[in-house]
Amino acid sequence: MLRVAIDGPGGTGKSSIAKAVAERLGLEYIDTGAMYRSIALKSLRKGVDAEDEPAVVKMLEETLIDFEDNKVYLDGEDVSGLIRTNEISMAASTISKLGPVRAKVDEVSKRLASTKNVVMEGRDIGTAVIPDAEVKIFMTADSDVRAERRYKQLLEQGKEADLEVIKSEIEKRDYQDSHREINPLKQADDAVFLDTSNMTKEEVIDTVCELIAEKRQ
Ligand code: DC
Repeated sequence: MLRVAIDGPGGTGKSSIAKAVAERLGLEYIDTGAMYRSIALKSLRKGVDAEDEPAVVKMLEETLIDFEDNKVYLDGEDVSGLIRTNEISMAASTISKLGPVRAKVDEVSKRLASTKNVVMEGRDIGTAVIPDAEVKIFMTADSDVRAERRYKQLLEQGKEADLEVIKSEIEKRDYQDSHREINPLKQADDAVFLDTSNMTKEEVIDTVCELIAEKRQ
């Protein structure tokens, strides 16, 4: 059994790193943030207030979430291409504070981690979802660096972007994710701390693969 837990704040490049590592080592990649994002998408579509717990609980009773082959499914619909917006990032951070929302995503995540060798990334994988993961990494980067990376990415996509706005959104989400009551973003005691501020993507992928190889011996 090999379960790799990668946690850290938004915008660190966790997703692309985790995906690349999973591909290189033949593991299954699971993006738990995508599941929170899908629930946020549904709440926005239905006009359900993310702070209104009873309304969210009612919505969850009629919601099916799954993650397979790098894609997230909301009630059977592949919504992977619809959830990467700023609006959904903030809405996911807000709705993920609710216990029933966390329980819903945890159930799917734990089921997936119990049947496959996985690289799972999120905010609470090493602390709560797979506390006995074989490898735990806490990945972070300076918020200036994260904002700069995001800014460049948006410009490359031909989109408009304001560096200061991006930075303040990143910091707001960091604060919200690390100060919520249930399973906040926090480094697990036994996680390896990895600051990627001055590393290239290839260097981070190599480092994570080396850490996994060391633990596997
Ligand atoms: O990793 P991401 O940016 O796609 O995550 C979106 C939001 O979902 C994040 O701001 C907080 C929430 N989240 C969480 O609470 N726990 C996780 N394991 C993953 C994401």
